[in-house]
Amino acid sequence: MRHHHAPLFQTLKQFNDKDPISFHVPGHKNGLLFPNDARKFFDPILKLDMTELPGLDDLHAPTGAIAEAEELAANFFQADHTFSLVGGSTAGNLAMILATCSVGDKVIVQRNSHKSVVNGLELSGARPAFIAPEYDHTVNRYTSTSLGTLREALHEHSDAKAVVLTYPDYFGKTYAIKEMIDIAHAYQIPVLVDEAHGVHFSLGAPFPSSALDLGADVVVQSAHKMAPAMTMASFLHMKSSLVPKERVAHYLQMIQSSSPSYPLMASLDIARAFLATLKAEEIDKIIRSATKVKGILGASDHWEIAPTDDPLKITLHMKNGISAKDTATLFEKQNIYPELVTHNQILFIHGLTPFQKFHKLKKAVQNVGDELKNLGNRAIIEITKLFTQDIQELALSYQEMNQLKSKQVSFHEGIGHIAAEAVIPYPPGIPVILKGERITRAHITIIENLIERGIKTQQRDKGIRIYT
Ligand SMILES: Cc1ncc(COP(=O)(O)O)c(C=O)c1O
Repeated sequence: MRHHHAPLFQTLKQFNDKDPISFHVPGHKNGLLFPNDARKFFDPILKLDMTELPGLDDLHAPTGAIAEAEELAANFFQADHTFSLVGGSTAGNLAMILATCSVGDKVIVQRNSHKSVVNGLELSGARPAFIAPEYDHTVNRYTSTSLGTLREALHEHSDAKAVVLTYPDYFGKTYAIKEMIDIAHAYQIPVLVDEAHGVHFSLGAPFPSSALDLGADVVVQSAHKMAPAMTMASFLHMKSSLVPKERVAHYLQMIQSSSPSYPLMASLDIARAFLATLKAEEIDKIIRSATKVKGILGASDHWEIAPTDDPLKITLHMKNGISAKDTATLFEKQNIYPELVTHNQILFIHGLTPFQKFHKLKKAVQNVGDELKNLGNRAIIEITKLFTQDIQELALSYQEMNQLKSKQVSFHEGIGHIAAEAVIPYPPGIPVILKGERITRAHITIIENLIERGIKTQQRDKGIRIYT
C-alpha cells in the first residue's frame, strides 16, 4: 500500500491549484472573504475548506479520495473497514452503540466510561448493566473492570447485544482485554472498545497492542489525541462478523454533519500517513526522548512516576499529601501545561516527536519543587471504596425516565428514590450514582464521606434530583 500517499490531502491541493471560482458554500469563498486580522492564521486552511464538489468525494457515501484514504487507514490499522470521523471519538462511540443496541436491549458497559458512551446508551434506549472498575493499588486509581466481574455479567446477561469497554485508560494503563473479548465472543456478543487514547498502539512494540489486534469488533480512536490530526479527527475501525458495517454507516451519517470539514478529514489522512511511515529508528528516538523527559520530571522528592503501559504517558503521583492541583498550577506558571490533573496525579503526554526543551523543563521542575516547599500539604485523600455493587442495572428504562418529572431533594430525602441525574465526584470522575439508579443509604454514606474529605460533586451540598 502507498502509505506515503495522502490521497484526500493531495486531491484538495490539486483542486486548489486550479484557482477555482466559488459560487457555492462555504461563505468564505475559498478564503476570499475573511477578516484581515484572522486571515493570516486561517488562510492556508481556508483553501482546503471545500465542500462536496466534483472529484472531492462525499464522507457519507465515499467512492473516491475519501474511500481511498479510508482503505489506506484500514490497511495500516488492520481493520476490515475504517470510517473517518469528524465528530471525535464522541461520534464513534454514539454510532457503535446505536448500531448494536435498540430500545430495551441489554448491554454490558464499563461503569467508568466516557460520557459519550453513557449518552449513546440513553439515545439507543438500551438497558445497561454497568460493571464496576477495580481500584488498582499499583497506580492508585480506578482502572479497568476485572475479568471475573465481566464473566459474571455475561453469565447473568447472556442475551446482551454488546460489551462496551474503555482501553487504555487516560493514563495509558492497559489490561487483559483479549481474555475479555474472548469470553464475550464465546457468547457471540460483540465487543465495542473506546480506544480514544490509543491511536498510536498500532505502531507495535514498545506500545501495547490495539484492541483491534486483540479481536475487538469495533474500535474508536481519537486520532487528534496522540497522532498529528486536527482536533475532532478520529477513526472508527471494524473487524467483525457480529456488527453490520451498514448499521454503523447509517448512524454515522445521522450523527455527523452533512457538511463535514475537509481540513479535518485531510488531517486524518495525513495522520495515518505519518503513523504508517514512521521508521523504527524514529520510534526509538521518540521513546528515548520520553524516557529522558520522564527522568527529568521524576527528579523530585514531592512526587514519583506512576507505572504505565504507554511509554508516552508520564504520570506524576504526589507524595506526602502534596496537592496535584497546586503543583500543576506551578508548572503552568512556568508556561508548561500538563494534560490532566486529578487530586493526586498529574498527567503529561509526550508527543510522537522528540522533545526539545530539556533545559527549560529541568529548570521548571526545580522551581516547582522549591515553590512547593512554601506551600502547606493537604490531607491525603484515599478513594478506594466507591461502589456498592459490581454489576449495576438501572431501576427504570431511559424511555420511562423521559416520561417523568424530577425534583431536587436533599441527599437523605433521596434514599429509596430513583436518581434523575448522575452523581460524579471529582476525583475520581466515576459515577457513584447513575442516572436511573435507585439511591440507597450506602450511596449517601459514600458521598457524604467524599464531601467531608473535600471532594466535589456537581451537586455540592444541594442534594440530588430524583424522579417523582
Ligand atoms: C476515554 C474517552 N473516550 C472518548 C472521548 C471523546 O473523544 P473526542 O474528544 O475525540 O470526542 C474522550 C475524551 O477525552 C475520552 O477520554
